Amino acid sequence: MLVTGREILEAADRGGYGVGAFNIHTLEMLGPVLEVAEELKSPILLQFTYGSIQFIGAEAIGVLGGHLARRSPVPVAIHLDHGAGFEQSVTAIRSGFTSVMIDASRLPLEENIAATRRVVELAHTAGVSVEAEIGRVGGTEDHVTVNEWEASLTLPEEAERFAAETGVDYLAVAFGTAHGFYKGEPRLDLDRLAEVDRRVSVPLVMHGGSGVPHTLVRQAIERGVRKVNVATELKDAWARAVREILAVQPEEIDPRKLLAPAREAVKHVVRQKIQVVGSAGRG
Ligand code: 13P
Repeated sequence: MLVTGREILEAADRGGYGVGAFNIHTLEMLGPVLEVAEELKSPILLQFTYGSIQFIGAEAIGVLGGHLARRSPVPVAIHLDHGAGFEQSVTAIRSGFTSVMIDASRLPLEENIAATRRVVELAHTAGVSVEAEIGRVGGTEDHVTVNEWEASLTLPEEAERFAAETGVDYLAVAFGTAHGFYKGEPRLDLDRLAEVDRRVSVPLVMHGGSGVPHTLVRQAIERGVRKVNVATELKDAWARAVREILAVQPEEIDPRKLLAPAREAVKHVVRQKIQVVGSAGRG
């Protein structure tokens, strides 16, 4: 079934488990990710950055993704990841997405609240749910330095105000995770996450799910995280499989044969993540 992100994450909140939100970079990744969700009877969020929407085509995602989701036995939401402004949300909603993120977290609090409210008003009118971010999740895109680590984390009192004033459906919290792979073990502020969870009633979102040890992912879920974003591990598995087959079969030209191992590699990552977040059997 095609459902909103809110339906999936509220059920996860009631059940105390997490749900994987997997970044789809090419249409070829869509089938394998969904197949694993169905195999494990798990709800799932298929998420696309605006870059992926431009690469694949908004209409292609809406038509194909929407069709596959509707005929799927498990709950599926189609989500815009890190929407950069109002227009990107409009494009996604028009194309049939059931969940959008507005990421105005780089702006001062008041402006983040205003930008988020605007998207919430539009999305809720269309029956679409909204994720926003408060604090800044670091990572390779942001070039956050060690000194900035603490300054960029979510302040629980700001999160409380932000959730109340925006009417957002789920909230991304900066508590030490980062996009991309980590150098060593990530340093997570789980007490801060727990404090945000005490003050905010909506489900919480963890960005930067790749490379976070399983025990830490589970500890974050115990502290209110319901949506766990994974992108880098999927790209990495995909690229390794493609490199490997090109190395051992340099003469192969059939795209199906070249991409079959990549599809399996992606499935392996998704299977593992679904087991870690605890959503298997919840669909
Ligand atoms: P990773 O690339 O670290 O898995 O992060 C994904 C993410 O948070 C997408 O918004």
